[in-house]
Amino acid sequence: MNESRRQFTRHALQSLTALALIDGLAAHRLFGDDVRPAVDDWLKQLDAISRDVKDERIKDTEFQLALEGLYRKVDLPGLLKTLDFERMARGVNYKDRGETSLPVDFKQVAGLPTKLVWGRQIFALKKGRSVVPHGHDKMATGFLVLSGRPHGRHFDRVEDGDDHYLIRPTIDRNFAPGEFSTVSDHKDNVHWFTNDLDEPAFLFNVHVIGINPENSNPAGRVYVDPMGEKVSGGLIKARKLTHTEANEMYG
Ligand SMILES: [Fe+2]
Repeated sequence: MNESRRQFTRHALQSLTALALIDGLAAHRLFGDDVRPAVDDWLKQLDAISRDVKDERIKDTEFQLALEGLYRKVDLPGLLKTLDFERMARGVNYKDRGETSLPVDFKQVAGLPTKLVWGRQIFALKKGRSVVPHGHDKMATGFLVLSGRPHGRHFDRVEDGDDHYLIRPTIDRNFAPGEFSTVSDHKDNVHWFTNDLDEPAFLFNVHVIGINPENSNPAGRVYVDPMGEKVSGGLIKARKLTHTEANEMYG
């Protein structure tokens, strides 16, 4: 082996050693033995209820209850460790409007399928920003507050009109870390989270899309203006918005 080739090999090996060390440190920091089994088990239960609703073994409202049950018993410090939350929170590049969505990867969790039926992300809100008011079709989802004290509002979507929805307020309060709320086609369908505080807010989100075959609308989000005219029965006539409009008005 000539000199330059030997050098190249040595450098390559040094790099590999450095990478292995970084990997090892990350694994040690993130997934200490004290945390891993409890959070892994919780994630496996999350996966199980998501597959249940996706495969129509349970109704979306039953999924909501199950998701709330899991959120209620979450080991929040353990989940934060698994998400490497501190490092992630320091590195957020906040968008000017609306929520900043951060990817969440659970590939390292033993026993989870490689292809998950449930989406997951973290929404980061700096002061004055919001998860703009929106409803959902063929979808069940839920937020768990990881950090901060966002103001959360939910509404039942009572009726779909041509250019508006009739909605009824159901939840309107501040959420502390560990508190949560859920959404389905049938209950608390519209939600809206704002952060009015200096401290940023972080919300963990799980969602299952493409459920409820009886709903003929396209699966996904619809945007609404919940500050519409108050009509009889405690309802609000909430104009349909585009994503751009919702972002301009409420983002
Ligand atoms: Fe949503």
